Amino acid sequence: MLPGSETSVRGLLEKDLAAIHELSLVELSVRRTIDETRSCIFGQNQVVRVLVDHGAHCIGYALGWQVRDIAELTEIAIAAPSKGRGFGRFLCTNFLSQVKQAGAKSIDLEVKDNNRIAIGLYESMGFLKVGVRAKYYRDGCDAWLYSLEVS
Ligand SMILES: CC(C)(COP(=O)(O)OP(=O)(O)OC[C@H]1O[C@@H](n2cnc3c(N)ncnc32)[C@H](O)[C@@H]1OP(=O)(O)O)[C@@H](O)C(=O)NCCC(=O)NCCS
Repeated sequence: MLPGSETSVRGLLEKDLAAIHELSLVELSVRRTIDETRSCIFGQNQVVRVLVDHGAHCIGYALGWQVRDIAELTEIAIAAPSKGRGFGRFLCTNFLSQVKQAGAKSIDLEVKDNNRIAIGLYESMGFLKVGVRAKYYRDGCDAWLYSLEVS
């Protein structure tokens, strides 16, 4: 739990589906049906950490996968009213601890080249830029590939 806050991070519950679906659409522009979101978050090897408020409602999530010592953070989003208060860092740190505890030795992710907030977060957490996929996104932005080695 964050100091001075009732916000905490826990594992995924069935009741989080609608909130995660909405956050992925609004914050990440992910277009998929609710059933696709369900398959995605409850799928095999998926790792989901859920940020909840004092009423246990989902206000953010981190989604990724892990196979043995390799993990990837594929989506992370915080609801608009809760942004900029340290929750993104808190959630990302929790995701990293989770996969590390389960044996991950490296964690990969990709981010749009113009997402300064996310890039600031990842670089401050020690992720190193390891590659670029030119014009990877529909709007012509590049994907920057990051990786973090953990011991
Ligand atoms: C990216 C995101 C998860 C960060 O969560 P957050 O709770 O807003 O961020 P935090 O308050 O934890 O801040 C973490 C770091 O992000 C950066 N950051 C946060 N707000 C920022 C802002 N307004 N301007 C610039 N950098 C900012 C800083 O590096 C900050 O670290 P610092 O506070 O030590 O300076 C959140 O903004 C979000 O949901 N964005 C939309 C979805 C998205 O882009 N996800 C990432 C896809 S790769």
